[in-house]
Amino acid sequence: ASLMPVQLDVEEDEAEVDSGKIRVTVFFGTQTGTAEGFSKALAEEIKARYEKAVVKVFDLDDYAADDDIYEQKLKKENLAFFMLATYGDGEPTDNAARFYKWFTEGNERGTWLQQLSYGVFGLGNRQYEHFNKIAKVVDEQLSEQGAKRIIPVGLGDDDQCIEDDFTAWREQLWPELDTILRDEDDVHTVSTPYTAAIPEYRVVIYDPTVTASNEKFSSMTNGNASFDIHHPCRANVAVQKELHKPKSDRSCIHLEFDILGTGITYEAGDHVGVYAENSHETVEEAGKLLGQSLDLLFSLHTDKEDGTPLGGSLQPAFPGPCSLRSALAHYADLLNPPRKAALVALAAHTTDPGEADRLKFLSSPEGKDEYSQWVVASQRSLLEVMAEFASAKPPLGVFFAAVAPRLQPRYYSISSSLRFAPHRVHVTCALVYGPSPTGRIHKGVCSTWMKNAVPLERGLNCSWAPIFIRQSNFKLPADPSVPIIMVGPGTGFAPFRGFLQERKVLKEDGSQLGPAILFFGCRNRQMDFIYEDELNNFVEEGVLSELIVAFSREGPQKEYVQHKMIDKSAQLWNLISEGAYLYVCGDAKGMARDVHRTLHTIVQEQGRLDSSKAESMVKKLQMDGRYLRDVW
Ligand code: 2AM
Repeated sequence: ASLMPVQLDVEEDEAEVDSGKIRVTVFFGTQTGTAEGFSKALAEEIKARYEKAVVKVFDLDDYAADDDIYEQKLKKENLAFFMLATYGDGEPTDNAARFYKWFTEGNERGTWLQQLSYGVFGLGNRQYEHFNKIAKVVDEQLSEQGAKRIIPVGLGDDDQCIEDDFTAWREQLWPELDTILRDEDDVHTVSTPYTAAIPEYRVVIYDPTVTASNEKFSSMTNGNASFDIHHPCRANVAVQKELHKPKSDRSCIHLEFDILGTGITYEAGDHVGVYAENSHETVEEAGKLLGQSLDLLFSLHTDKEDGTPLGGSLQPAFPGPCSLRSALAHYADLLNPPRKAALVALAAHTTDPGEADRLKFLSSPEGKDEYSQWVVASQRSLLEVMAEFASAKPPLGVFFAAVAPRLQPRYYSISSSLRFAPHRVHVTCALVYGPSPTGRIHKGVCSTWMKNAVPLERGLNCSWAPIFIRQSNFKLPADPSVPIIMVGPGTGFAPFRGFLQERKVLKEDGSQLGPAILFFGCRNRQMDFIYEDELNNFVEEGVLSELIVAFSREGPQKEYVQHKMIDKSAQLWNLISEGAYLYVCGDAKGMARDVHRTLHTIVQEQGRLDSSKAESMVKKLQMDGRYLRDVW
């Protein structure tokens, strides 16, 4: 199993052209940065182990601007690794969506990738139905399209410790790569144990009299015409109100962003990404644990003073100069449990030897069970862990590179229609608030921010956030006379509110509307029946034909949306037979799974089909785009 050395692409690799070298390309499909981090770590390790390797890392979207270029470029690759996350309802990450669509629809290309050897590592979560679907499909397709699999697809499970899965996969990989990337007379043939360097930015500290240029993404919103995850748009909070009734002990926020003049557009069913910030108390605590003043002004750099790049798997720095207060509020994920790599970085900057040893143990193979108990199962936040190890004081360059991951935007199904609510993006957000296993009160970052947001209607100094739209395929049928069935308990109702607003406008404009049924679920009419009046109005106006509500905590027995669906089996079957679209939105692990089973039962019983025929029918609905899910 040896590869012919390739002639490197002169334009791209001028500096590295050297006959006998082999190009290795690592691709990532990432949503929260984990796959990207793994890709960079893999690249670093390959570089460290094999002199022959010239390693490049690519965001799948950045690799090729269109399908033809994917084809041209992939034909020239000889050794490639794909680190691919699976999201939501078995979907690719946003940055892999275009590649995935093109590549998986490529059956007419034949076995055109015979020059390519490859490995795929997936990032997924076993709690979800389509565990690592994207990695599995790409792995299969690569093989079908002629490429040579050198290692079985890795199935990383974020429900346990995905770093361990990645380590195990790499251990399997090295013997294979030894045969490809190492010459027989290579003196390095005996693998030396490899320890990844801890990434660290170069930090520049500024005189506090210099004004901070960056208070919240100013340099990211540089007048772009179209906004995306890397270029969010500043949007004011226009309206904010509580949706739960006074008797409820929980909270659900209705929030409206004002997008007048931004050029942002969306369709009912799309998502909005929101960059929230950590609360003051979280930021204060982090500043104390780091032993630094929150007023400190600094910037991070990925190059040395002479301009040459720093080694290691550094991600791009956030814009600066920036106060530590602002950096901790906007860029640091402080409340999730730390990864093992973060513990390693903390251990390297811990003065107490006992604490350093314990941190090393927790991140070691021997400490596996302890880590999964003490960190993961206990949901110990990074700040809680740092508080336990009081002598761990990582410098800022290490903290932001290796200890605290970047704070990620949170996605919400938009609960409005632009036609009904011009210049507005509505969000319906349940507050995440409750005790963690260690007794800490866990407060969700974004929902807490929304709960405390000050809307324009209540004061001039209103709250705002950087936002952007993510398109979805969760859309109304193009023809409004097609019947629709919507299933959305709790905040799963959000996109359907957008649908119903859209239908209201369509109706007013003279369209003939087909029937629309909504299955909504909540605990108790007196507490969390959100948007009750609006729903009743939609029924009165003929926008919604039937509203069916399951109250789970009113009677002696739990009543869920799927129980109500069973009651309506015959009607649902008729609608489906007439071409109805079926939409499910909400929790993926429990509700959507149960509703899926219920649908199967209804199809089987009403259609008098055996189980496998019923399954194919449900599959077909899915393939035809008539059974759509927006689940999380
Ligand atoms: P519960 O909290 O009483 O269990 C919105 O969250 C509604 O969805 C609540 O009434 C909740 O009920 C209900 N729910 C919880 N798990 C569900 C499941 N697996 N299927 C359908 N509904 C569910």
